[in-house]
Amino acid sequence: MAMISTEQINEIRKNVDIVDIISSYLPLTPKGKNFFGVCPFHDDTNPSMSVSKDKQIYTCFSCGATGNVFRFVMDYENISFPEAVKLVAEKAGLNVQIDVHTKQKHTAHLEPLYEMYELSEKLYQNNIHTARGVEAKKYLSQRDINDDIIREFGIGLALQQRDVLTKLFLSKNYRYEEMLRSGLVIKNDYGYLDIYCDRIMFPLWDITGKIVGYSGRIYKGDGNFKYINTKETEIFKKGEMLYNYHRAKDEARRLNTILIMEGFMDVIRAYSVGIKNAVATMGTAVTKEHIVLLKRMAKNIVLVFDGDAAGAKATYACANELLAVGITPKIVRLEENLDPDEYIKKYGKEKFLRKVDHPMNVMDFKISYLKEHRDLTSNEDLSLYIHDVINELAPMNDEVLKEITIQKISKESGLDEEFLKKQVEEKSLKNRGQASTSLKKEKQEVKRSHMSKYTLAEQNLIYYMLKSPEVIKIYDKKMTYMPTEVYRFLARNISYYYKTYHEINEADFISFLGDNQVLLDALSHILMLPLKETYHLEEIEDYVRVIREYNVTYEQQRLKRQMETVTDPLEKAQIAQKIIELKVKGE
Ligand code: CTP
Ligand code: MN
Repeated sequence: MAMISTEQINEIRKNVDIVDIISSYLPLTPKGKNFFGVCPFHDDTNPSMSVSKDKQIYTCFSCGATGNVFRFVMDYENISFPEAVKLVAEKAGLNVQIDVHTKQKHTAHLEPLYEMYELSEKLYQNNIHTARGVEAKKYLSQRDINDDIIREFGIGLALQQRDVLTKLFLSKNYRYEEMLRSGLVIKNDYGYLDIYCDRIMFPLWDITGKIVGYSGRIYKGDGNFKYINTKETEIFKKGEMLYNYHRAKDEARRLNTILIMEGFMDVIRAYSVGIKNAVATMGTAVTKEHIVLLKRMAKNIVLVFDGDAAGAKATYACANELLAVGITPKIVRLEENLDPDEYIKKYGKEKFLRKVDHPMNVMDFKISYLKEHRDLTSNEDLSLYIHDVINELAPMNDEVLKEITIQKISKESGLDEEFLKKQVEEKSLKNRGQASTSLKKEKQEVKRSHMSKYTLAEQNLIYYMLKSPEVIKIYDKKMTYMPTEVYRFLARNISYYYKTYHEINEADFISFLGDNQVLLDALSHILMLPLKETYHLEEIEDYVRVIREYNVTYEQQRLKRQMETVTDPLEKAQIAQKIIELKVKGE
């Protein structure tokens, strides 16, 4: 992370106008106090994004995107926060020194590795178009991969001799130590040798499009290792890359949909028929880094894994990973165990697209997945199946989907709907009892109970804290503990920010939160609440009172539960005393 101070960031932000910067990307029209435009972060034709000149923030009333000028540029350009700050400063013609290349400076020692990959790519690509590449080309053409695709995806060929690349590196004065670090050369009893021989080479790129590794495929007969991937190196981290990310991201943003496949061959096939918004995980599990990338690209995430049992299992696992971070993916399952590559070849682009345009919802997929290989006429299997479905339903927030699903399985199993509902409720209570107070869970909690008066009070208080230091001071003096963890963090950060910088506004505070997506999401939700611009002191006092009341009630309930479990009369009396004290305090 580059060294930009908060003061510097705020200074830049104050010297630019968000309206000018956003206008450089898309047309804005003035209407009343605000400007309106078509939101670039979801598929839309209506001008549902409003840009406030006063507040210097933008808000999309349709997809909920919101933020300050840096966040807009970050999300639009797909760049990091420091890069966005630098770009905004440049666009505004401000002469500021921002070192976003701190990373690159530290990584000067990686330069040779990148260069070696560029060299190897040229060599491999050259090979495939020579006489020695005839057989490889024949293999590719049998798989319907023509010269255009070979060029587009930089596909090449490693020859049979095992020293071609090593010799090339030597001739360019690279050191053996660097060759080994690149992952392209190994050392054994015979000396230094190329890792890849006699394989078709598929370049792998990092998210900026730089080549950082390969997947080499055998193309003669059936060997043991169908693909050999470059080992993890300083520049190649499989868990941080998605195949084709740099090419797919613009199209994915345009369509607001990203297709995730297992294999890069699937992505190449899709691309060759004009479906350009697909990436591949390359058979690995979805990582946190993947999720960050995916979220930046599109709202709709469609899993199109292989049609076989392994693909179903991977879909199930991947869907759960995504659901855990609040993303609800859509699912496509392909018949006859086909993978997308085979499916498109067999049934054509149109039929494939029809499936992608009408994906399954994740619950339907899960139900059919849980039913697989089970004989529902057997009581044992039926019971296992129902239990599994209940486990899936318990943590779900979507009450409508829950209800629909319960009706379905009630019909299927002959079990009473009310009975099933009770099971789900009990399971969900049990889960909640065990739930840790992680931010993620809290976030779901916020959604679920967002109409409770405590939550409303928390939201309103935070909203006005951002408007006026007076409210921050009241918070500092009277409020000790907000019940909801995200709001607690937000309020504390606001208070801290004000103490440090002696002023506060929405736009600068957004910068301050940086990459903390959970807090940013909670904040944008609050900023979008249809609240009045001004407040009365009594209202603020009221919010504080409601929150304190909640704390007291909550503590009382906790003590009452505790009292039920203790048997010692003295202890019981002490708890009772505490409860009375709380009551007095609450009044
Ligand atoms: N994979 C791998 N090593 C293997 C097999 C697979 O790294 N031995 C990765 C590859 O990135 C591959 C993905 O997992 O793209 C999916 O595997 P698979 O479905 O077997 O690949 P296909 O796309 O079907 O490959 P092909 O059509 O060439 O057989
Ligand atoms: Mn496959």
